[in-house]
Amino acid sequence: MQNEAKTRKRQGNRVVLAPTMGFLHEGHLALIREGRRRGDVLVVSIFVNPVQFGPNEDYEQYPRDFEKDREMVQKEGADILFAPEPFEMYPEGFGTSVNVDSLSRCLCGISRPGHFQGVATVLVKLFNIVKPDVAVFGEKDYQQLLIVRRLAADLNFDMEIVGFPTVREEDGLALSSRNSYLTKDERVSAQSICQSLKKAQILVDCGINDSETIIKSATEIIGSRPEAKIDYISLCDPVTLQEVKTIDRPVLLAIAVKIGKTRLIDNMLLHP
Ligand code: PAF
Repeated sequence: MQNEAKTRKRQGNRVVLAPTMGFLHEGHLALIREGRRRGDVLVVSIFVNPVQFGPNEDYEQYPRDFEKDREMVQKEGADILFAPEPFEMYPEGFGTSVNVDSLSRCLCGISRPGHFQGVATVLVKLFNIVKPDVAVFGEKDYQQLLIVRRLAADLNFDMEIVGFPTVREEDGLALSSRNSYLTKDERVSAQSICQSLKKAQILVDCGINDSETIIKSATEIIGSRPEAKIDYISLCDPVTLQEVKTIDRPVLLAIAVKIGKTRLIDNMLLHP
C-alpha cells in the first residue's frame, strides 16, 4: 500500500482515504462517494482495529462481511481497497500509541477509556501508509472527527479532514454497523435517540435556552424506553466539547445510550 501510494502521488494524483471498519452501510457509501468527488485515487480501508475496543467490548462480535464489502467498494468505483490483518498493523513488539489528550477525556472517553487512543493510533498509521491528501469521516462520530482534526493539526499531517453529515434511516435512526445487533423491540427503542434530538431543537425554537430543560426532556424521552440505559446526554461547545449551560450560540447535543447490549451514539447541532 505504501509503495502504491507513493507511485500514485508521484504521478500527480490527489489521494483520498475513507477509513472504515467494514460491514458497510449507506452511511459509509455516502462517505465513499464524497471521497470519490474529492480526489483522483480513492482508497477505502477496512480494518476492525483491535486497540480501539476495551476488554469488555464487542471486538470479537463486531459484524464482518468482507466479500459483500468488497463488492460494494468496487461498485462505488474506489481504486484501492486496503484491508490489512491485525498482525500486519500491530506486529510483535509494537509499542507506540497516540493520545489526543484534550478532547479524549470527556463524553465517550469516560465510558470507553483508551478508545480514542486506539482510534488516533490506527489513524496515524493509516495516514502514514496511505499518505492521503484528504480523509473523510462521518459526523455521527463527532468527537472522533474533532480528535482527528486536532491530531492532524498537532502532528502536521499535510492533509484535509472532511466531515460528512450523518446518514439516517427514514425514522431518523443514525446508520451504524452496530444497528445490526438490535432486536425488533430494541430497534423501536433506538428511535427515541433521534426523537430526543429533534425535540431539543423544537424546544430551542420555542425560546428555551437552558441546558437543564433540554437535557431533562431528552432524558425523559429516552428513559421512557425499557431497554434504554443512558450513558450521557451532554450539551457542549462544538469545538472544545466543554459543557455549556445556556444555548446562546450553536451548541452540540451529544448522546450515548445502551439499548440492551448495543451502545449507540448520535448528536445534533442545536441552533438558537
Ligand atoms: O469510525 C470508524 O469506523 C473507526 O473509528 C475508524 C475511523 C475507521 C478507525 O478505526
